[in-house]
Amino acid sequence: MDLDLRFPALSDLRQRARRRIPHFAWEYLDSATGTESVKHLNRSALDAIRMAPSALDGAFQPELATPLLGQTFSAPFGIAPIGMSGLIWPGAEAALARLAARQRIPYGMSTVATRLPEEIGPLAGDMGWFQLYPPRDADIRTDLLKRAKAAGFRVLVLTVDVPAPSRRERQLRADLAFPPRKTPRMFAQTALRPEWALRTLRMGVPRLRLMEEYKRLDGTAPSTGHAGYLLRVNPDWDYVAALRDGWQGPLVLKGILRPEDGTRAKAAGVDAVWVSNHAGRQFDGAPASVDVLPDIRAAVGPGYPVIADGGVESGLDILRMMAKGADFVMLGRAWHYALAALGPRGAAHLDHILREDLIANMMQLGLTSPRDAGQRLWPAQDTDRSR
Ligand SMILES: Cc1cc2nc3c(=O)[nH]c(=O)nc-3n(C[C@H](O)[C@H](O)[C@H](O)COP(=O)(O)O)c2cc1C
Repeated sequence: MDLDLRFPALSDLRQRARRRIPHFAWEYLDSATGTESVKHLNRSALDAIRMAPSALDGAFQPELATPLLGQTFSAPFGIAPIGMSGLIWPGAEAALARLAARQRIPYGMSTVATRLPEEIGPLAGDMGWFQLYPPRDADIRTDLLKRAKAAGFRVLVLTVDVPAPSRRERQLRADLAFPPRKTPRMFAQTALRPEWALRTLRMGVPRLRLMEEYKRLDGTAPSTGHAGYLLRVNPDWDYVAALRDGWQGPLVLKGILRPEDGTRAKAAGVDAVWVSNHAGRQFDGAPASVDVLPDIRAAVGPGYPVIADGGVESGLDILRMMAKGADFVMLGRAWHYALAALGPRGAAHLDHILREDLIANMMQLGLTSPRDAGQRLWPAQDTDRSR
């Protein structure tokens, strides 16, 4: 079957995904917080960005390879960390780590994944980034960093946009819990999705395995309740300094939306900032990620790495983010729509869609490198990216 004919765009994969996973898993993946205005704003802000195609450029070959944080990736995009991704599609973490290693794009593994770093790190090869939700306990933090490093993760990403849980109303309505509660409603939803159910039976109920290990070792742990309590802390710049000391390798702050925070990160020895509003899942009054990029780029200067995510669905969206100041672009939900639709070959198909769409649009714009996308912004803007 030619996947391009049946699923030419991410929207085709998303539609199929909805029919293939239980309602509670869908609500977890697809929802945001509040009225979901930020989720929609990420999309409409990207759609509003216009670029003027260039004429008569003759024959040329667009080049996707992109350097970042001491490595060269085969394309300017990667896989953002998604907590509990094994709930969305059983085996998601392993499938995405393998894809990343094969295609040479970064894979971000969440602290609240359903697998352990020791299982996933080796599958990602040198493409693994470990995303840290900050443990309150300094010993747990030190141990976690040691384990991530030993498992082969090259880059440490501290997520800073979750100072407290958000309400996520759709998740509440869907009665979502980790691990999933065994209620008649859950069983009914699961029975409607037999492939997901069989795979989940084979792989085991998705759990926050890493945090549960630490919870068992923690004498103060409440006997019931969520292992995530170990991570309920709102870190500060001293915490960043401790991580800078404790991690030998690139350190990234994820969830930056203000230029002041970008310059402070740079001054603190952080290697890159990741501009993100957490896909609208934390604060429904935030700006679109793409809209804050120009100010953050101006604040940190042309040579400092800026990563961005939020609402990206296509190669054109990647160019739009880069035109506004990003060096590299990540996608979160998209990979999971693709996995839920078609399993691992769905994720590989999305990788193919993004590359083809990048090249097709770079040809229209007369660009050999996606880094030059800012030169085509319409109306023209001053986007000096020379370094
Ligand atoms: C279901 C879901 C779970 C997420 N879990 C995490 C997480 O554990 N850690 C984290 O840093 N970001 C998490 N994020 C945010 C993503 O890393 C990323 O910033 C966001 O999904 C990008 O927007 P997009 O989904 O529109 O591409 C999550 C997002 C979603 C949709």
